[in-house]
Amino acid sequence: MDQEPDNRETEIDRRRFLALVTAGLAMVQKSPAATPKDHLIDAGPANLYAANGIYDKFRDQGFFLVRANGKLIALSSYCTHRICKVNPQKDHTFLCKCHGSTFTEEGKVTEGPAKRDLPNLPVSTGSNGHVLVDISAK
Ligand code: FES
Repeated sequence: MDQEPDNRETEIDRRRFLALVTAGLAMVQKSPAATPKDHLIDAGPANLYAANGIYDKFRDQGFFLVRANGKLIALSSYCTHRICKVNPQKDHTFLCKCHGSTFTEEGKVTEGPAKRDLPNLPVSTGSNGHVLVDISAK
């Protein structure tokens, strides 16, 4: 014999359901989500990059630090043709082995098929004097 659901029981189930949904949403909001700082890579003390040259320690994290003409810049390590990683050369240029594109040490295209320069990534200095690179634009 079928029984009609007890209205009080249904109301409690609805309340429990809403409480669980609310608790779940609260957990999602408290989980470690992407924050603006997640895009910053601490490259260490600025004095590590005092000499002119290409620093490739962060190639696999998506960028090179380049000191040239008294300025420190960060260049994306991804070729703008089809996203292969480029390699620094002894003459302070970059070569993409996938299809042969070349770039200057400032990231300007010197030979295609890439048509766009290597993106410049924002560089700043943290309160501790470390170089911070924003990789959100790589
Ligand atoms: S991916 Fe670099 S030249 Fe094609």
